[in-house]
Amino acid sequence: MSGRGVASPSILVCFGTRPEAIKMFPVVHALRDHGGMDVRVAVTAQHRQILDQVLEIGDIVPDIDLDLMRPNQSLDALSARILTEFGGALDACKPDRVLVHGDTLTTMMVTLSSYFRKIPVGHVEAGLRSGNIYSPWPEEVNRRVAGAVADLHFAPTEGAAAALRAENVPEDAIHVTGNTVIDALFSTRDKVAARPELASGLDDVATRFAGKRIIGVTAHRRENFGEGMRNIAGAVADLARREDVAVVFPVHPNPNVRPVMEAELGGRDNVALLEPLDYPHFVRLMAMSDLLLTDSGGVQEEGPSFGKPVLVMRDTTERPEGIEAGTAMLVATDRELIFREASRLLDDAAAYEAMAKAHNPYGDGKAAMRIAKAVAHAHGVASA
Ligand code: UD1
Ligand code: UDP
Repeated sequence: MSGRGVASPSILVCFGTRPEAIKMFPVVHALRDHGGMDVRVAVTAQHRQILDQVLEIGDIVPDIDLDLMRPNQSLDALSARILTEFGGALDACKPDRVLVHGDTLTTMMVTLSSYFRKIPVGHVEAGLRSGNIYSPWPEEVNRRVAGAVADLHFAPTEGAAAALRAENVPEDAIHVTGNTVIDALFSTRDKVAARPELASGLDDVATRFAGKRIIGVTAHRRENFGEGMRNIAGAVADLARREDVAVVFPVHPNPNVRPVMEAELGGRDNVALLEPLDYPHFVRLMAMSDLLLTDSGGVQEEGPSFGKPVLVMRDTTERPEGIEAGTAMLVATDRELIFREASRLLDDAAAYEAMAKAHNPYGDGKAAMRIAKAVAHAHGVASA
């Protein structure tokens, strides 16, 4: 790797969880396609199995893999591990720039570790704000820390750019690029269309639930653990009492999620509780669903591309564009509200049609290329 300040800048792309990997694999490829930079990948592996699922399909072989996940890890212990271990990795490879994504503990601790070494940080998916530090928790503070340190801010939307301006981020540090999740989604959707066997693991579910209205469900947020998760499980159980409905629910591996879902939803004829799906399979699930129930950030961004109504099981969202466009609706973790709104969409064709409009407020599939050009420009590398 080149040292700092020499002609071919070294860019270290860092991530640790499934959603960061999905949203950063297009960036890694775009940086490499651009040329003129020495591009490396470091993973904290804050997630293990569901990170590896993405590395494989995203065709990424990490140069550094810290393998930091532990069962049921606490925020304190995970933060400490990342800070110490990642600092060592930075000292060994001395990159000219670090790129982080979004709002996980990996994002925040890699940012701090880079800051301690005065290595500039570029923040992908910058400027998302809910305005409430406990919702989502701890993500709202993770991304604010990244925003405080970064000198390049890749905002997915104009709204995110406006939030950065309101925090006095200089105009020339803000690049509105679109969200790279749309790049990942489009490329994966094309791959699955060309090679359906990439998502054939859902053939059984498709056959079993033929003729039913499919509800795709995901849930994992820390602020929803306990009562929130029980309410989500209860609402899904209420919906699954309908004969015309089938639920497909790939369960997040977090140990605070699975037991709750198994206790309430296990063993029901029209509920499939699955292991986490790799991205091609999840893309197929979104396409075959009539309705999505989720507390995920990424699924809120992907649902509108498929024209699928998304009921967001959170109190707040930092992704208002889907709500403003009418494809997403906040339903909190209120069992009755989730059941009522989902039932309304299933029973009232006009209400369903009003939400089920395909549009892309989150990007056009070219975000990664824009990010690569901006990074190259910042380091004096000419673009073709
Ligand atoms: C993390 C992020 C969250 C992000 C989510 C995406 C933080 C604090 N949270 O939440 O912002 O939305 O990822 O999914 O950064 N586990 C496995 N295998 C895996 C992954 C997780 O067994 O491949 C289990 C482990 O027991 C692990 C636990 O899940 O300790 C929690 O993982 P962690 O990354 O701390 O939190 P998430 O809830 O996954
Ligand atoms: N996803 C996946 N398999 C699954 C569930 C989700 O590939 O079984 C993808 C989904 O398409 C989205 C991302 O994972 O791109 C979202 O991850 P998650 O909900 O874990 O995190 P968040 O986006 O809330 O941070």
